[in-house]
Parts: sequence; C-alpha cells; structure tokens
Amino acid sequence: MDIGTVMNTMRDPAGVPAHPVLFQGLMIITWVLHIAFVHLTLGAAGMAIYAFYRRDSSPYWERLSMALTKVAKVGVSLLIVLGVAPLLFTQVIYDPQWYVSNVLSGRWAIAFIFTLIVAYCCWFAFYYANHEGAKKRVGFYAWIALALFCLDGLIMHALSYQALLPGQWMNWYAPGGVVDSSGSALHAIQWPRYVFIMSLSVPAVGVFLIAYDHYFAARADRESEYRAFARGLGQRLAAGGYALAALLMVVWQLTQPGKSGLMVHPLGWVLVLGLAIMAVWMKRLKTTAHGYWPVLGGLGVLALLALWREIVRIAHLKPFGYDITTYTVHVDWPSTLLFFSTFIGVGGLVGGFYLTLLYRSGRVQGLYTAERTVARLGSGAVFILGLWIAVFFTYGIVIWVRNSFV
Ligand code: HEM
Repeated sequence: MDIGTVMNTMRDPAGVPAHPVLFQGLMIITWVLHIAFVHLTLGAAGMAIYAFYRRDSSPYWERLSMALTKVAKVGVSLLIVLGVAPLLFTQVIYDPQWYVSNVLSGRWAIAFIFTLIVAYCCWFAFYYANHEGAKKRVGFYAWIALALFCLDGLIMHALSYQALLPGQWMNWYAPGGVVDSSGSALHAIQWPRYVFIMSLSVPAVGVFLIAYDHYFAARADRESEYRAFARGLGQRLAAGGYALAALLMVVWQLTQPGKSGLMVHPLGWVLVLGLAIMAVWMKRLKTTAHGYWPVLGGLGVLALLALWREIVRIAHLKPFGYDITTYTVHVDWPSTLLFFSTFIGVGGLVGGFYLTLLYRSGRVQGLYTAERTVARLGSGAVFILGLWIAVFFTYGIVIWVRNSFV
C-alpha cells in the first residue's frame, strides 16, 4: 500500500461537520494570532534580558526591562491559549499527518509540555526578582526560560515539518526494517524555516515598543523622555529586524525543494517584498506617526506567512494524493451554528469587553471608572455568557435524553 492511500485511510471516518476549506481558513487566521504572541513573547523576553544587563547605564533600561518582563509573562499565557485553536483545526483536516508526526517524536511531544512548564516557572522567578537594584545573578532564570522557549519552538517546528514529509515516515518508523517505537528523535528540522520564523521576534518587539509609546502618551507617569527612548529603540529593532527577516526568508526560499515549484512561487517572494517594505517603512517612520500602524503592518506580514505555510503544506502533500477538499463531509448544522455563535458571541463580545476594559483602564493613572459604553459592554458580556451556558447545557441534555430514553 502506498503512503498516500495510508494517509487517506487514516482520516477520521466520521468526516468533518462543514466544508474543509472553512477549517483551513480558520486554521490560518488563528495561527496568525498564535505566532504573533510567540514573536512578541520571545522578542520581549530577549529585550528584557538585554535591558536587565544594561540597567547600570541608565534608569530607562531598568524600567524597560521590568516592563518587558511583564509583557513576556502575559505573552506566554496568550500564546498557549491562542495555540489551541490552530491545533484543533490542524487535527480536523490534517489529522493523519499531525498524529503520525507526534507519534514518531512522542517523547519530544511530551517533553514540550514539561519544558514549557519549567520555562514558564523560570520566567516567573525572573519576574519576581527583577525589581530596582536586583542582583545580576537572577538573570540566570531568564536565560534558562528563553532557551527552553526556543527549544519549544524547535519542537513545534519539527512536528509541523515532519508532517509534510510522508515519503520518509517509514524510514523513521522502521530504519533499516527494524521498528523503533521510542519516539526519541526529532527526525526533520529545516533550519532556514525555523530561524526565519523565530527571527520575526526581533521586529515584533520593535513594533510593540512603537505602539507602547503611543499608548502611554496619555499618562503623565510615563514621561516623554522615557517614551521617546522606548520608541527610538523600537524603531531600530523593527527596521533592522525586518531587514534581517527578509534576508532569512530569501534563504528559506532558495532552499525549497526544486521539484515542488515553491522556489519560484510568487507568494513566497511577495512575503520577501512585504518584509523589505516593512524594513524601509520602519527606518523612515516619523516620530509623529501614529504608533499602531506598524503593528497592523506586522500582522499583515504574518498573515502572508500563514498563507505561505499553507501553500508549502499543500505542495508537499499533493504528490501523495492528499487533498483536504476530498475529506468526507457530514454537515452538522447545530454544531456549526453553536461553534460560530460561540466564536462571535463569546469570543467577540466577551473577549471584546475584556480587551476594551484593559485598553481603557491602562491609559488612566490611578482609579479607573468605566465609561457608559464599557459598562454596557460588560452587561452584554455577562448576558451572553449566561445564554451560552444555558444553550450549551440544554443542547447536551436534549441529545442525552433523546439517545437514552426516546
Ligand atoms: C513557547 C512556546 C511555543 C513556541 C516558541 C511556539 C512556536 C511555534 C512555531 C515557531 C511554529 C511554526 C513552526 C513551523 O511552521 O515550522 C508553531 C506552530 C504551531 N504552534 Fe506553536 N509554539 C509554542 C507553543 C505552542 C502551544 C502551547 C500550542 C498549542 C496549544 C502551539 C500550537 C501550534 C500549532 C497548532 C502550530 C501549527 C502546526 C501546523 O501548522 O502544523 N504552540 N509554533
């Protein structure tokens, strides 16, 4: 049996509840959010460490180090939460590839969780110790955390990349005909792809610092000299970081497998162009320019990257006869409706309320009193949550009663 037939046979016999392209789109969109927080976290962590060792040269470095330590602390929790959605969508349409890849490197897939826990604990230790006049030795925790975060990125990369190489699975599963079920190896790493994706952490913290300056302009306790210091640093990091990333993307492009046609695919080069444009724009950005536009530009580049990853995946799997559009569909309207109303209602309104509240309250020094619109959003969020819980349980109970008693 050829591996293409194996992959198609390994699909979930229950099929998918709506057209597979819908899940593909959701996977691409949600991955953008995941990777945006991966980049922000890694960039903020790296910069927090750098600033920590430079704090004797200026009090601004110390302040920045403490601020970015907090950013990375919150960033880790968001990157984890936002990683779940693309993980679920990958498992819906690319289940054979994802599970094979995870089983072939089972020990690493499990080690991923433990190393992430240890890394996060270390980052918390650093966060706790990183205050005015902190001892230099506490930086040790930060280094361990950052190294483990990078290792976790490498594991994620290997799991993603191995899933694209079905032609090699048998060799990894049974090298020389002898089954190796240890799962102890990371079988395939494409360094140009990994280094390029990770390098985007540099401009990510850059555009964040530009937005940081804009955000805190409304607060008197963040004086303009400190904000100008953060913005100038952010602009240098963004300009240099995007230029470096553009170069690394070219390297990834030139190392794409020849037969796949990816090396000459326009979207890969559009991504290179997008990165180059960002680099030039950041270099020339005026100090009076609105600080949130660069973040939007950065998200645009990540959207291109997410699309590109999907094109790469399709090009690798097509020769094996794997095409998501042939996935069996058993349309299930109630669950699709519940999913989208949860996405829009709970995700949009409740999530939107939290974001608005955090955004507005952070711009006020001292006690914050919610404006009318924020208060209304809060009431709407509580109502929607109540409704959602009621629908969720009613739906479950109705199905249970129908299956058990009717
Ligand atoms: C510090 C922790 C993490 C880092 C540094 C990280 C980094 C990365 C990177 C670099 C990629 C792209 C790999 C590539 O395309 O070659 C990736 C993909 C991905 N990550 Fe993460 N990640 C982390 C944690 C997580 C967590 C906790 C989850 C899930 C809850 C997650 C879910 C995903 C998913 C689903 C993908 C895409 C897989 C695919 O398309 O095949 N990540 N991550």
